[in-house]
Amino acid sequence: MTFTLTAHDKESKARAGTLTTAHGIIQTPIFMPVGTAGTVKAVHQREIKEDIQAQIILGNTYHLYLRPGLNTLEQAGGLHKFNGWDQPILTDSGGYQVYSLSGTRKIVEEGVKFKSHIDGSTHFFSPENVMDIQRTIGADIIMAFDECTPYPCEYNYARKSMDMTHRWLQRCCERFDNMESKYGYEQNLFPIVQGSTFKDLRQKSAETIASFNRAGNAIGGLSVGEPADMMYEMTELVCDILPADKPRYLMGVGTPANILENIALGIDMFDCVLPTRNARNGMLFTTQGIINIRNEKWKNDFSPIDETLGGYASTFYTKAYLRHLVHSGEMLGAQISSVHNLTFYLWLVKQAREQILAGTFRAWKDKMVKDLMVRL
Ligand code: GUN
Repeated sequence: MTFTLTAHDKESKARAGTLTTAHGIIQTPIFMPVGTAGTVKAVHQREIKEDIQAQIILGNTYHLYLRPGLNTLEQAGGLHKFNGWDQPILTDSGGYQVYSLSGTRKIVEEGVKFKSHIDGSTHFFSPENVMDIQRTIGADIIMAFDECTPYPCEYNYARKSMDMTHRWLQRCCERFDNMESKYGYEQNLFPIVQGSTFKDLRQKSAETIASFNRAGNAIGGLSVGEPADMMYEMTELVCDILPADKPRYLMGVGTPANILENIALGIDMFDCVLPTRNARNGMLFTTQGIINIRNEKWKNDFSPIDETLGGYASTFYTKAYLRHLVHSGEMLGAQISSVHNLTFYLWLVKQAREQILAGTFRAWKDKMVKDLMVRL
C-alpha cells in the first residue's frame, strides 16, 4: 500500500493524496459508503461504482462473522468475490458494533464476550480472532480491535480502556504480522486512536498509535454524542501527532459540515451511516441544503432532486415523484434516496479535493459549511 500526497492547502491542514491498494486507487479525501453486511443498503454494486463513483466501501466484521459466516466467505474466495465489488474494501473490527448492537457483552482483558443480535447465541472476539476473521473476509484495509468509549465517559474509565486498546493493538499486530493473506493480495492493518474527549489521553494515544508505524492510522471514539467543537479539538490535536505521510481515517463521521471541517484539520478518510440511514427516513442532502422529502412542499415540485450533482438518480428523478414513492412506502423510494445521498457525499469530497488542488479550499469550505446545513 502506498500513500502519496499531491497537495497541501496553505490556509488549513487539508491535503489531497492518492492511496494505492491491491484492489485499486483511492483519491483522498474520500468518503467510504457503509456496506455493513456486504451490501450498501438498497444500492446495487453497479450504482456504487458508476453512479455514486465510490472508490472504497466498508464492511463490518461483526455482521459478516455472524452472517453469512466465515465458512461461506472463505469458500467464496473472500468478500470481494462474494459480493462482486472488485474495488477496495475496508472492514471495521467489531470493536464498535459489539458495543452498539449486542445487548449483553462483557469486556475483559482477553477480549469481549457478546450475544448475537440475530439469535442470542454467545460469541467471543479477541484481538487475535478478529485479525483471523478479517483476513478471511479479505478486506484491503482491516481495523485493529479496540474499545470505543461512550460520551460522556469518566476519565478513569477512558484511561483504562485506552490502555487496554493499546495492549490489544500489540496483540493485533503480532497476529496480523505472523499470518499470510488468504487470497494472495496485500492487506493492511490500521490502528485506532482512542482517549475519549480528554486531551492528555488523546495525546498519549496518538503517540502510541504513531509508534506502531502502520501504513495508515484511524481516530475512533468520536461522533458519539460530544459537541462538534469538542470533536474538532480532538481531531486537530491527534492529527498534529499522527505521521503526516500516512492516511488518517476518522471513523463514523459525519454530517457534510463535519466532513469538511475535519478535512481542514488533516483527515483523509471518512465513513458514516448518515447518508444511507437518513435516506431511508426521507432526509436528503443536496447542494441547496437539507430536504425532508416527505414534506407537502415537494408534492408538485417537478424539479430534479439535485441537478448540480450530475448523477443519474439525482438528475433523472423529480422531488415530486420521489416524495410519492416515499409516501407510498415503495422500495424504489429508499433506493433513489440512498443513491442520491451517497452521490452527494462523493461529490462533496471530490469537490473538496479539487479545491485543495486549486488552492481555494479554505474559503470554499467556509461557504459550503453554511450553505449545506440550511433546511429547505
Ligand atoms: N466506528 C466509529 N467509531 C469507531 C471506533 O471508535 N472504533 C471502531 N472500531 N469503529 C468505529
